[in-house]
Amino acid sequence: MLEKMKSMEHEAGSRRRFLRRGFGWIILGAMAYPLFRFLGFRVPRKPVHVRIEKELGLRGFALEHEFILFANQDGAWAVSRRCTHLGCTLAFDEAARLLVCPCHHSQFDMSGKRLAGPAQRDLAVYPVEKAPEGSKGYIVTL
Ligand code: FES
Repeated sequence: MLEKMKSMEHEAGSRRRFLRRGFGWIILGAMAYPLFRFLGFRVPRKPVHVRIEKELGLRGFALEHEFILFANQDGAWAVSRRCTHLGCTLAFDEAARLLVCPCHHSQFDMSGKRLAGPAQRDLAVYPVEKAPEGSKGYIVTL
C-alpha cells in the first residue's frame, strides 16, 4: 500500500514537472517572439507587381512613388526611391543623372550605388520585365 502511494506521488510529481516545463517553454516563446521581431526576423511579404504603361526612350525614366524606372539600349531597371539613410524619398536630378536625397544630401547613381552622403548602403534594385506582347510598358516587381 505504501509503495503504491509512493508510486502515485512520484507519477503526480513527474506530471507536475512536465506541465511546469511545458508552460515554461510557452512563456519563453511568448517572450522571445518580440525579441526576434526586434532583431529583424521578418516574414517575407508577397511581391507586388506595378505596371508602367508607357515606353521609355533611350535616356528615359519614369518617376513613381516607390521607385524610378530607367531604360537604355540594354534594357530597363528600377531603383528604389527610399533613401537608405533615414528613408526620405529621393529626387532625380536629370541633368546630373543622380538620385539625390533632399534630407541630408546622400547621392546615388542610376544603378542605385551610393556615391556620397550619410547613407551607407546602396539602393534596392527591383526586377523589371517588358510588358507582354501586344501591350506597351513594363512590369516592375517590388
Ligand atoms: S535620409 Fe537621405 S541622406 Fe538622410
